[in-house]
Amino acid sequence: MEQSKRELNFQFLAEPTDVNFGGKVHGGAVMKWMDQAGYACAAQWSGRYCVTVSVGGIRFFRPILVGQMVILNAKVVYTGRSSMHIYIGVKSGDPKDSNMVDTGSCIISFVANDASGYPVEVPCWIPQTKEDIALEIYAKKAKEFSQQLEADLLAAK
Ligand SMILES: CC(C)(COP(=O)(O)OP(=O)(O)OC[C@H]1O[C@@H](n2cnc3c(N)ncnc32)[C@H](O)[C@@H]1OP(=O)(O)O)[C@@H](O)C(=O)NCCC(=O)NCCS
Repeated sequence: MEQSKRELNFQFLAEPTDVNFGGKVHGGAVMKWMDQAGYACAAQWSGRYCVTVSVGGIRFFRPILVGQMVILNAKVVYTGRSSMHIYIGVKSGDPKDSNMVDTGSCIISFVANDASGYPVEVPCWIPQTKEDIALEIYAKKAKEFSQQLEADLLAAK
C-alpha cells in the first residue's frame, strides 16, 4: 500500500458561521471537521465507503478563533480486518504568521463497507517508526477502552 495514502491534511479558515455563544469556534464544528478528515483518510486508505464506529481521546487544548487558519492532519495508525483507526491532530493560528499551535486531537475508528453495506477487509498498516509503533499501541488501547465502556453500559442497563 502506498505510504502517500496513509495521511492527508484539511486546511481552511475558521468562518463566522463556526462561532459559538462565547465568540470562539464551536466544539461541535471542530468535531465535524475531525470526523470529515478521518472519513476522507479512511476512504483514501481503503478505497471504500466507510462508517464511523467510535471516537476516543477527544480533547480541545486551546480555543480556535474566527479568521484563524485551521489544519487537521489525519493519519492511519492501526488497522484490523475491516477497521481503520485514524489519529487526527488539529492546529490553528493566524494566517499572517506561521505560528500554528496544537488545539486538539482525537482518534476515530471507521469500518470499510462493501457495495452492500457489509464490513470488508482493508489494507494492512504496518508501523515502522518509534512514533508510529506508539500510536498503534495508543489506538489499540482506545479501541479496547471504547469496547469496555460499551460492555459496562450494557451491564448497567
Ligand atoms: C460499524 C458497524 C457495522 C460495526 O458492526 P458491529 O457488529 O458493531 O461490530 P463488529 O463486531 O462487526 O466489528 C466491526 C469492526 O469494528 C471494530 N469495532 C467494534 N467496536 C469498536 C469500538 N468501540 N471501537 C473501535 N472499533 C470497534 C471491530 O474491532 C471490528 O474491526 P475489525 O474488523 O478490524 O476486527 C455497526 O456498529 C454500524 O453500522 N454502526 C453505525 C455506523 C454509523 O452509522 N456511523 C455514523 C454515520 S457514518
